[in-house]
Amino acid sequence: MTTFSEQDREKLPKHVAIIMDGNGRWARSRGKPRIFGHRNGVKNVRSVVNAAREFNVPFVTLYAFSTENQHRPEDEKSGLMRLLEEFLKRELASMLKDGIRLRAIGDLSGLPKFAQKVVEESIEKTKHNKNWNLTLALNYGSRQEVLNGIHAYANKILKSGKMPENLDWPTFANHLETKDIPDPDLIIRTSGEFRLSNFLLLQAAYAEIFVSPLHWPDFNREAFIEALKNYIQRERRFGQTSDQISHSAQPLISNNQL
Ligand code: IPE
Ligand code: IPE
Ligand code: MG
Repeated sequence: MTTFSEQDREKLPKHVAIIMDGNGRWARSRGKPRIFGHRNGVKNVRSVVNAAREFNVPFVTLYAFSTENQHRPEDEKSGLMRLLEEFLKRELASMLKDGIRLRAIGDLSGLPKFAQKVVEESIEKTKHNKNWNLTLALNYGSRQEVLNGIHAYANKILKSGKMPENLDWPTFANHLETKDIPDPDLIIRTSGEFRLSNFLLLQAAYAEIFVSPLHWPDFNREAFIEALKNYIQRERRFGQTSDQISHSAQPLISNNQL
């Protein structure tokens, strides 16, 4: 049983975002079709979500389907959407029991109707839950999100007829799909790839990044704990010096004030 000291517990991330990569490679190494990897990847979600809850990490975001994944073969995409539907139907009861609020980021209108429907219903049914927060990135791409944000902001300005003197980050960030969730403190990518693949590019400005060599279906509770342990060793400086950070009880700047 892993425990963190009281001091370490305070350092744990508030928001962990995960790029769940490597399902295809996991399946191929077993001589199985890619969808077998995706099925086992979905099975793995629960163990990581449970570990995050156990260690009081209140926000978890999972990159499940990117805008670029739309270019994958049709049978793989429809298989993924069926798995999403099964997952949400199966997990709804426990999300309600455990007070988990589901959110989604990404363009849901680009999903098949049946998938859109189950996502929207799950969001609606869990919207009053307050214990914990799970966000699924579905048909999500950071560049598209930013373009939509610019469009929405520009529209407001045009309607008001007056260009503001300046634009600060919190004002613009309010036009992003992540406006209700804090910036990620820790981004985990599985399967050994060192890239963000269009995931939360601006929100990741000061995120710590942890790359695990494990393929997503093998990334279990222990691997998640290892990532947390690695994270708490890091010194997050937010542009300041090490002395400034170690001599103040709290960092002078925090992730969400940038
Ligand atoms: C991640 O696994 C799942 C999705 C992107 C939907 P991949 O399907 O990308 O697996 P690899 O990278 O091909 O092994
Ligand atoms: C990133 O994985 C997207 C998700 C995990 C949903 P990809 O497998 O699509 O990323 P690339 O293509 O290797 O960069
Ligand atoms: Mg991949």
